[in-house]
Amino acid sequence: MRKVYVIGIGAGDPEQLTLQAVRALRELDVVFVIDKGSAKSELVELRQLICSTHIPGPVRVVTAADPERDRDAADYTGAVADWYDARAEVFAGMFATELDESGVGGILVWGDPALYDSTLRVLDRVLARGDVAFSVEVVPGITSVQALAARHRVLLTRVGAPVHITTGRRLAAGMPADLDDVLVMLDGKAAFKALPDTDLDIFWGAYLGMPDEILVAGDLQDCKDRIVRVRAEARERKGWIMDTYLLRRRRPDADLA
Ligand SMILES: C[S@@+](CC[C@H](N)C(=O)[O-])C[C@H]1O[C@@H](n2cnc3c(N)ncnc32)[C@H](O)[C@@H]1O
Repeated sequence: MRKVYVIGIGAGDPEQLTLQAVRALRELDVVFVIDKGSAKSELVELRQLICSTHIPGPVRVVTAADPERDRDAADYTGAVADWYDARAEVFAGMFATELDESGVGGILVWGDPALYDSTLRVLDRVLARGDVAFSVEVVPGITSVQALAARHRVLLTRVGAPVHITTGRRLAAGMPADLDDVLVMLDGKAAFKALPDTDLDIFWGAYLGMPDEILVAGDLQDCKDRIVRVRAEARERKGWIMDTYLLRRRRPDADLA
């Protein structure tokens, strides 16, 4: 039966690949890539660099264009489901035509496949279609959240306390009630800049693990304008940006942070 590895490749630094990921890469006959367009072709190139660094000999890379996604749809969940279905169709076609009955394919996933990534959900849809049979093995990777914590040398969890992971879209409604430590991803609009809270620190990172990495940390109200400016300049220069941040409420028991 065909086998598909879903391999977490870390958040941008090729040295974030685990030994397990390198072993899986070396088993691959084909790497499947969905190309998200020219602005992010640097990310496709990075995936190719990772392959050539860790796989001896040439590797076959099969690329398909990412289906269009309706980002302005009133029915957000429905639009996302349609997009998953379109991606499932693309993968089903690639597996059927580019992977032998006993072939081993790989999908390289940014960070870890379990965190804000649709690959596993889309593969479930491919299997449900029933046109092509395959097994799936997941190889975990270093997430952008872990990369952020390491670069700022912070703990994500304070003693006995929870940490919350959310999106910029949700943060736009304000800091979640009763939570002092909030990690924000997928924030195209810099939602932090509208927060009125005066007791928050921010630990912000863009292009973590990459040569263009930018880090800013400090009191949210003091640094938010700088982050907005630096962020806009970097996005303009590169054509894309990925950033992640931790918002942390200052507490008197800071030594238990
Ligand atoms: C679709 S999610 C993928 C998350 C990924 N699966 C992970 O484990 O980190 C994309 C978001 O991850 C974050 N991200 C991914 N790589 C990053 C990096 N190198 N630096 C900063 N943020 C990153 C950003 O918030 C970005 O909007």
